[in-house]
Amino acid sequence: MIRPVLRMGDPRLWRRAREVEHFDTPELDALIADMEDTMRDLAGAGLAAPQIGVDLRVVIFAVEGNPRYPDAEVVPRTVLINPRLSPLSPETEEGWEGCLSVPGLRGWVPRWSRVHYVGRDALGQPIERTVAGFHARVVQHECDHLDGILYPMRIRDFTRFGFVDELFPAGGAGVAE
Ligand code: NI
Repeated sequence: MIRPVLRMGDPRLWRRAREVEHFDTPELDALIADMEDTMRDLAGAGLAAPQIGVDLRVVIFAVEGNPRYPDAEVVPRTVLINPRLSPLSPETEEGWEGCLSVPGLRGWVPRWSRVHYVGRDALGQPIERTVAGFHARVVQHECDHLDGILYPMRIRDFTRFGFVDELFPAGGAGVAE
């Protein structure tokens, strides 16, 4: 079921979400199905449970030939629960991001270049990955949602934060949202 996405300003987006304690349950499967329906409907690259008002540490993301991100590398379809993320070096890189909770806007956001993350899938099986590039950016953006952080809070140069059609009048902002 497609669910409404909360927009920036809704206080439910500022919470630190709760850990999932029970895996492989009908409730968790239903939540993930709703998140996937909602992300697909909006052609997003990722979605966090708090964005549909659910106070749990669940994120999903995928970039598989998404027409909104023609230049983005493929990121495998992932359900990541109770994630823990750590940078592998102090190196950061900046890139454009959007967010389904901040519609119509884009910002230039610094992120760790390479990260290691662990978590669990819907069955409770462990996930562990070392990633870089767009994958690293997407997972950092989504995990931030679980701590009540939206990407505008990470922006340093506010001359590179604005409306998509003003920033990119010729189109082609292939970025995470
Ligand atoms: Ni977002």
